[in-house]
Amino acid sequence: MIENFLFIGLPYIALFLMIGGILYRLFSGFMGSYRGRWDLSARGDFLWSTRSTGFFGRTSIGAASLNIHWGMILLLIAHIVGFVGGAYNMTALVDFFRWVGMFGGILFLYGLGLALWRRLTIPQLKAMSTFEDYAILVLLIIVTVFGLYQSAVKLVFGVSYSVGPWLGSLLTLQPDANYIKGIPLVNKLHVIFALLFFAYFPFTKLVHAVTFPINYLWRPYINLRRMEALKR
Ligand code: HEM
Repeated sequence: MIENFLFIGLPYIALFLMIGGILYRLFSGFMGSYRGRWDLSARGDFLWSTRSTGFFGRTSIGAASLNIHWGMILLLIAHIVGFVGGAYNMTALVDFFRWVGMFGGILFLYGLGLALWRRLTIPQLKAMSTFEDYAILVLLIIVTVFGLYQSAVKLVFGVSYSVGPWLGSLLTLQPDANYIKGIPLVNKLHVIFALLFFAYFPFTKLVHAVTFPINYLWRPYINLRRMEALKR
């Protein structure tokens, strides 16, 4: 019963909140004074901001941000490739997930740790941090530690052979939790916390991910300076 909720109900709730929440927030400006007015500009640029912290602790933001973003891109690709491999029994793709996922996971965890450490140790940054800033980092650290613990510490791998078909059953609207019931507890916790993260996503500053990469194509160049110049 509980497993049906966690592996059938929760994925659909998370997907609904993730996609619906982003669209609602994008067009309704529900967090700002434009509430109720349906317009793309209603979201308000300040509410949609990443609340950049680069102004303080400038020497550590580069390493934190680069590791988080490259780690995340590698993890995303590795998961998709691995799940397709798992669903269609293609060992090479599942192996790709193993090694690229492990590399991406280590980069990601390092970046997340550094980002949390910056928030806790740089006084101005600590003062500007909100509950949400910490919640995102802590949730992602939990998800990543569960993922890496299985693959890098316990050396358990190949769970994609169960998770791939399960995701396939969800996508074809014929959900079957039996595919995933037998996987190790740590992998289950990994999936559950990831789904909770996706449900929370639209209500955080992370919404920038759906527009910033698009703006990037035509926004003006930003003049960046070398790290040595910052230290002076
Ligand atoms: C924020 C999102 C997520 C992060 C940061 C994340 C991170 C990770 C990491 C670091 C690993 C270890 C990879 C390796 O060492 O090769 C992993 C493995 C895994 N992840 Fe995720 N993950 C996320 C979302 C998900 C979701 C949504 C699912 C399933 C619906 C999932 C299912 C799995 C499975 C099944 C494995 C083990 C693969 C295997 O044993 O074949 N992950 N994840």
